[in-house]
Amino acid sequence: MDNVVCLDDLEPLARAKLSQMAYDYLAGGAEDEWTLRENRAAFQRIQLLPRVLVNVTKRNLATTVLGTPVSLPVLVAPMAFHGLYHAEGELATARGAASAGTLLVASTASNVTLEQIAAEVDAPKWFQLYVYRDRERTRDLVQRAAAAGYRALCVTVDTPLVGRRERDVRNRFHLPDGLTFANFADAVPEHSSGSALNAYVASLWEPSFSWGDLAWLRSLSPLPLVLKGVLHPEDAGLAVEHGVAGLIVSNHGGRQLDTVPAPITILPRIAEVVDGRAELLLDGGVRRGTDVLKALALGARAVLVGRPVLWGLAVGGAEGVRATLELLRAELALALALAGVTDVHAVPRSLIF
Ligand code: FNR
Ligand code: LAC
Repeated sequence: MDNVVCLDDLEPLARAKLSQMAYDYLAGGAEDEWTLRENRAAFQRIQLLPRVLVNVTKRNLATTVLGTPVSLPVLVAPMAFHGLYHAEGELATARGAASAGTLLVASTASNVTLEQIAAEVDAPKWFQLYVYRDRERTRDLVQRAAAAGYRALCVTVDTPLVGRRERDVRNRFHLPDGLTFANFADAVPEHSSGSALNAYVASLWEPSFSWGDLAWLRSLSPLPLVLKGVLHPEDAGLAVEHGVAGLIVSNHGGRQLDTVPAPITILPRIAEVVDGRAELLLDGGVRRGTDVLKALALGARAVLVGRPVLWGLAVGGAEGVRATLELLRAELALALALAGVTDVHAVPRSLIF
């Protein structure tokens, strides 16, 4: 990985190791992939206006998310099926995230069980929940996550059904033999047409889940609730009224409803509505230390990074995941210095031009 200088350098290296089906599942977005591109473009449109003559010898990157310490304000986003990218799958990702001193948000759709991930490293983790129609399954997942020591429940609310990712339709995306939704050992075999994941989700996940069901979800465990996939400021307000501890402003990496705005574009309006009543996180298109800086300046406490972590996993297993996060750490540390900021808790709004 000596020739990897920035996150984007990892993508072609990962691609060379992957089947077309696995690569496209990772790289793709919904329909025209407008939002997928916009997530990057929106960061690139924002300009920074730095301060000078500040003593930046020491910069603090460490923070907390819902009380959990992390060594940098960058978490690993929940992503399905790490077994498509490395033989050790989520276990390697968990080791890589822990060695970089940050949190992994483990997906419901993992290729090893949530208990195996929890046992792999003694480091804090969050659990991402997809709600199943079978309430007993959902209850079982939440209670297992709490028992295994996960510290927060991150409910993904932008996926009542899976978006139409045309690459996956064309490739007839499915899980190869030997990989399952390990939390229940559910196979996802090739479907007669289209993406087998869409068929799985349409038959098993709960599209009726709504605001009124959050109280039930909260009754299942003492874990703080984070809603992932909020974009509308009115939904952010509702989330706060429903007592959530955190919000992830996200469009699922452009994989769900196409043509929605980038999270970084809508973040300032959400920050205004939430007004400090819940912790605000953001994901989608974070590829540079300057992207992290922009998100912090506009009101996020931390960001999550998705695809680059799986590029790192594909290229170098746990070490690749660690290296990916270390690249972002180095870029953020430098960006802070060059912007005249010494602490991730004190990134001023005035840094945005
Ligand atoms: C995802 N994402 C996702 N989100 C979630 O809540 N549960 C999941 O199981 C998955 N699975 C998943 C698989 C893959 C291959 C990708 C790329 C993404 C969405 C993810 O958490 C996050 O919102 C985006 O990936 C962030 O955008 P970037 O960093 O990939 O641009
Ligand atoms: C995805 C789902 C599983 O983005 O969250 O593929």
